[in-house]
Amino acid sequence: MEHILMKHSFGSDNHSGVHPRILKAIERENSGFRVAYGDEDYTQKVLSQLENLLGGNCKAIFVFNGTGANVVALSPFVRHWESVIAPSTAHIIADECGAPQHFTGSQFVTVDCPDGKITSAQLESLFPYQGSGDNDWHHAQKRVLSISQPTELGTLYTIDEIKRLAQIMHSHGGFIHMDGSRISNAAASMGMDIKEFTNECGIDVLSFGGTKNGILMGEAVVIFYGEKQNPRNREIAENEMEFFRKQSTQLYSKNRFIAAQFEEYLKDNLYLEMATHANEMAQYLASRLSEIPCIKISKKTESNAVFATLPKELCNKLLERHYFYIWDESTYESRWMCSFATRKEDIDNFIEDIKQLM
Ligand SMILES: Cc1ncc(COP(=O)(O)O)c(C=O)c1O
Repeated sequence: MEHILMKHSFGSDNHSGVHPRILKAIERENSGFRVAYGDEDYTQKVLSQLENLLGGNCKAIFVFNGTGANVVALSPFVRHWESVIAPSTAHIIADECGAPQHFTGSQFVTVDCPDGKITSAQLESLFPYQGSGDNDWHHAQKRVLSISQPTELGTLYTIDEIKRLAQIMHSHGGFIHMDGSRISNAAASMGMDIKEFTNECGIDVLSFGGTKNGILMGEAVVIFYGEKQNPRNREIAENEMEFFRKQSTQLYSKNRFIAAQFEEYLKDNLYLEMATHANEMAQYLASRLSEIPCIKISKKTESNAVFATLPKELCNKLLERHYFYIWDESTYESRWMCSFATRKEDIDNFIEDIKQLM
């Protein structure tokens, strides 16, 4: 199979290109001079737009990529002798080469979650004592819970689930982080404003993604410091987070070009338009796959990812024609991702190929 330039790939939403409006926005910004590192009015104006979208009482900064966003988001909230709790399927655990562990210098505690979502009962069971841990200096003290919305398995937490997880962490003096690498897909699917399932649920710190949804390069980290958050957050947002960004090499000198992309991304809800399309394509793909008796959808299709099991031989033959990932080698459960650039005919062609190969 030709892997250099494919007609379409279900491998990842990262395999898609950049939305033409985003490229034009970069080009528009490409004249004249601005002070570097975002220390100028234009970048600050776009950051304020993002903060307003997220309900205010927060501070946003730009970073390069999703792994960097998670590193910068987690670092100020956890000290070396404290730990981060996360589902074992979380990107920070499985796919970031240990970067969050390396930069925070902290222990990460994993919980097995078949649908990618940690339950409140699982979280509570990790806190048999009062406080963020057990105050025994032989043990790392549990300080931060990290959840992803949508999860790495394409599923979504409900508002009530997020609120409950935040309450539990806050009641132990801790914090809750949301990896929102695909946050726009979550918003589109939930039919809610992003602030409703982040800021208003008590999320302390958010990794706000863009690259997987049509941006060329750039993500944001947002710290919330309203009444629903841990009272220490304002101090971290105002005086600490930018040092963590610089030290972890996530401060881009030409910040204005990330700002230009985000300005366009937020304008007329382009971010939602792209995410809605990607989600609709995933729904369409799931419904077309359901026509084929030997293929079984294995996870709820709640965002832009479709998971299903299929016979080994069919899977291997299909892989010669299409790019996608086998998620679980033991069951041949595979993952197909849709993006803003996936077209209905890409899915129809894929289904035709499956029918032919059978
Ligand atoms: C849930 C999630 N978080 C974070 C990332 C990291 O993004 P990046 O590859 O830009 O570092 C990814 C990338 O696939 C992801 O799926």
